[in-house]
Amino acid sequence: MTLIRFHRPDGSLDREVEADEGANLLDVAQEAGQPLEGTCGKQMSCSTCHVVLDPDSFARSGAPSEDEDYLLDLAFDAQPTSRLACQVAVSGGEMMVRMP
Ligand code: FES
Repeated sequence: MTLIRFHRPDGSLDREVEADEGANLLDVAQEAGQPLEGTCGKQMSCSTCHVVLDPDSFARSGAPSEDEDYLLDLAFDAQPTSRLACQVAVSGGEMMVRMP
């Protein structure tokens, strides 16, 4: 199990949950009540699942694809460690996820 800490846009902690390694981060976030719409149903054609990961989690999650990078360029408050949650599998260790 991986401990995931969801943070509000101001950085304050909102909720901690445990998730199975390999689970889809968008599914985990929505089950934890996080405000991610996921409008396109994981088809990578929106950016309503945009999150900001801590640097270690970002490194473990692998590089975003070219298409994901394009969508992230359009996302609100995109950061160097931004990802689309629908494209991230929960990795081992702890993850810190901030809502933009
Ligand atoms: S749900 Fe649309 S890009 Fe992730």
